[in-house]
Amino acid sequence: MIYPIVKFPDPILQQPAEPVTVFDAELRKLVDDMFTSMYDAQGIGLAAPQIGISKRLTVIDLSFQKKPEDKIVLINPEVIEIKGKQVEEEGCLSLPEIRDRVVRAAEVKVRAQDAEGKSIEVEGTELLARAIQHEIDHLDGILFIFRLSRLKRDLQLRKIRKLQRAGEW
Ligand code: NI
Repeated sequence: MIYPIVKFPDPILQQPAEPVTVFDAELRKLVDDMFTSMYDAQGIGLAAPQIGISKRLTVIDLSFQKKPEDKIVLINPEVIEIKGKQVEEEGCLSLPEIRDRVVRAAEVKVRAQDAEGKSIEVEGTELLARAIQHEIDHLDGILFIFRLSRLKRDLQLRKIRKLQRAGEW
């Protein structure tokens, strides 16, 4: 099924998600539904709180369905290593039309579980490193606009309010 995407300022996006403890058929169905919902929304990453489910689960596919090996499922992910710095523009399905440059680590290594509960390690650089950090932030209740300077964040919040008033949010 395709879940609708939850948008800011829904409180579920701003609270830490609960660890996944049960790895069953229902969880695997949820993972499949998250990929389907992400593709439907034209995204390359989606975290469970963005479909209204407060669980530490995220999916990423930078190839957008072109390469099956690019499909990444991270359950209960923990960052175990970071290196360097990169500053690039980001967007988010929960913040439509909002884009800004965000400071992130250049390289990241995470330990997580897959849909079967098996422990996995995933390393990323460039866009993958950015996507992993952006999605893990979602599991901690942090949206990318809250990684901006206060000035830039306030500008973006003003833009959101304007879109809301215009009924375009
Ligand atoms: Ni996002």
